[in-house]
Amino acid sequence: MALATRQHGVISTAELRRFGLTEKAIRWRVETGILQPLFVGVFLVAGSPRTWEQRITAAIRWGGDGAVASYKSAAALWRFDGFEPGPLEIWAAQTSLRASLAREAPQGPNPVELTDANLIAGIQLYGERCAICHGTAKGQASASPVAKGLYPQPPQLATEGVEDDPDGVLFWTILHGIRLTGMPSWANALSDQQIWTLTLFLKHMDKLPPAAQQVWQNVRN
Ligand code: HEC
Repeated sequence: MALATRQHGVISTAELRRFGLTEKAIRWRVETGILQPLFVGVFLVAGSPRTWEQRITAAIRWGGDGAVASYKSAAALWRFDGFEPGPLEIWAAQTSLRASLAREAPQGPNPVELTDANLIAGIQLYGERCAICHGTAKGQASASPVAKGLYPQPPQLATEGVEDDPDGVLFWTILHGIRLTGMPSWANALSDQQIWTLTLFLKHMDKLPPAAQQVWQNVRN
């Protein structure tokens, strides 16, 4: 929150990366309109008012860490505060989530073994609990009315997969949910073992062995 607010809703790719967002996570936020491109590598957080301060800040970001605005415009810049909560707040909650993920997510490998049976168990759990929001093997085409009604919208995981995310990060995200979004915490509904089983499936969604692939193709939402 603090950084984007101080910067009049303007944030650079480098800063987003520093907060732990992957290339894909940034791209997704651009596609869903949470981040609006201003210049190459510089974004406006949705909901921030358009101001001259913002344009200067954006120009500074664009110029890289070395660039500076004039003393006078800098002074005006830091006193100014005209932000509405909303998308920015959501974005900030996600940002702080990413930061705590980086610190607290378990580091080790997935304790659930990679077998067809475990993948299938993960697919079944996903079909019961997650497909309603995250879609089926059909990707975007399978987004349910529930998914379409949420803001921010849940990623349709068959197209916007999380295979590249570390196991521990997926486990931690499912366990705790994502504040101020539709992504619930599953801490009370699923055991750790079940969450690791779901993680196993999410990590292998794009490379399922034939037996698991068949079960996955039959999941409906
Ligand atoms: C009620 C809808 C809903 C349900 C049910 C739900 N999610 Fe989510 N989930 C979301 C939303 C919305 C987001 C995106 C939040 C955001 O903007 O970062 C999300 C994000 C995620 C992410 C992070 C994706 C990324 O790109 O980093 C993972 C992983 C995830 N969910 C897994 C699951 C799993 C596994 C289940 C089932 C146990 C599940 N979700 C059930 C709504 C839901």
